[in-house]
Amino acid sequence: MKVELKKAHLSEAKENLICVFLMQGEEPPYDVKRFLHDVKKQRYEGKLLQTYSADTRNDAKFKHLLIVGLGKKEEFRADFLRRAAGVAVRYAASRKENEVAMHLPSNFIARNELLGMVQAMAEGALLASYKFNEYKTKKEDLFDVVKAHIVSEEDVAEGVRLGTIYAESQNYSRRLDEQPANVATPRMVAEAAKRLAREYSLSISVFGRDRLRKMKANGILAVSMGSAHEPLLIRLEYNRGKHYPLYCIVGKGVCFDSGGISIKPSANMHEMKYDKSGAINTLGIFMAVAQLKLPIRLVGLMPMVENMPSGTAQKPGDIITAYNGKTIEVLNTDAEGRLILADALALGAEEKPECMIDMATLTGAMVVSLGRHAIGMFSNDDALSDALIVAGEATHERVWRLPLWPEYGELMKSDFADMKNISEVPEAGSITAAAFLKEFVGETKWAHLDIAAVDMVKWPHPYLDKGATGIGVRLVTAALVSLAKKK
Ligand code: BES
Ligand code: ZN
Ligand code: ZN
Repeated sequence: MKVELKKAHLSEAKENLICVFLMQGEEPPYDVKRFLHDVKKQRYEGKLLQTYSADTRNDAKFKHLLIVGLGKKEEFRADFLRRAAGVAVRYAASRKENEVAMHLPSNFIARNELLGMVQAMAEGALLASYKFNEYKTKKEDLFDVVKAHIVSEEDVAEGVRLGTIYAESQNYSRRLDEQPANVATPRMVAEAAKRLAREYSLSISVFGRDRLRKMKANGILAVSMGSAHEPLLIRLEYNRGKHYPLYCIVGKGVCFDSGGISIKPSANMHEMKYDKSGAINTLGIFMAVAQLKLPIRLVGLMPMVENMPSGTAQKPGDIITAYNGKTIEVLNTDAEGRLILADALALGAEEKPECMIDMATLTGAMVVSLGRHAIGMFSNDDALSDALIVAGEATHERVWRLPLWPEYGELMKSDFADMKNISEVPEAGSITAAAFLKEFVGETKWAHLDIAAVDMVKWPHPYLDKGATGIGVRLVTAALVSLAKKK
């Protein structure tokens, strides 16, 4: 689907379906008011995402009207428009309309916020139009809305452009993350990254097992020991060799996490194909940053492995030496993400970036602490944290900062090595994991985003279908935009 701006008055919209978004109690525009005869019968009150629909019976250029409620004015947030646009596009698809027009509500929005609102609408529409149908063989049952027009008399094309970049980059990540582990092997992801690099003129290197051995990236090597697939470290770079401030993103790329010898229970184990979300969503960030032509340099490090039990797999009790020379006692092979991140973070720190952000489906404990509505953030830098918090509000990929006090680090000290990969007290699992990572970033300003629990949705959402969410793509891109501005 494409989103386009249609610079016109509402009365000029001649698509079959027009959608109007209204605050609770707000006076509807003149051109739709005359079709509201059924409002009482449909019990429409303007509550958030409540809908009212009516045929216009040839009394207007458009044939069918959908009103989507935005709720109370004092509670309004941009994400409500993102959701409402999602509802509109899904409604159009359910009616098999090829086109849908969405009216930009402008009377309650300050002029300087209009672009952001248009961006949110474009994002909601494009995110909701995404479907993962690759493996459905009955193609005749599938229907796609072709075009969504945003109808406005204002000059808001830039909002459409930005919304399209952000949402399409996120959809790119969702599509790749959804690929199952028999398809999305480390090699397959590396090939996808190469295609991305070609399309957006990024520099790319892919390090295989031999190179990783020479580098002594033993965390990555140890985790992949049980797998038939070669571990790979993907290094992407945007604006290589240019004189811009450097930022670094590290993404956990576990193509399948069975737990290894410390094997996971089989219920829901299939969800561990999403354990590569951090790496895959990092690719989406590169796609967005390159299209936005941000004046920064960006290095992405994505260790890609599969965590499997086998006769050659690493075992509980093994002691390994990470890339930075620290020794780790592997007490649980299911705490594998931190082992591959240990190497990647230490490598990232060597590049001396302004700051480094990692994204990882690191701990199941996130579901317990924050549920499915926030990313857990851990950071050694307040300014970076604040940039991510602000970007989280704007993108509705919200982050919540948790503490990283030294007491948590104490719990990761091993009897026989420098560190152990799990704390033996079953408390604050997400924080102790972050405290472990902290040992590999040195003095680099760093934020760790634990996206477990939010990297996929299991239940209906107004603009995200069940499956991979691509979370972090819009968040980190928006944060980089603001960090670049401050430089
Ligand atoms: N990939 C998992 C974390 C995860 C669990 C993500 C559920 C999404 C949903 C990670 O590698 C893991 O297994 N972590 C362990 C750590 C434990 C052994 C200390 C966990 O969370 O149970
Ligand atoms: Zn695991
Ligand atoms: Zn994992």
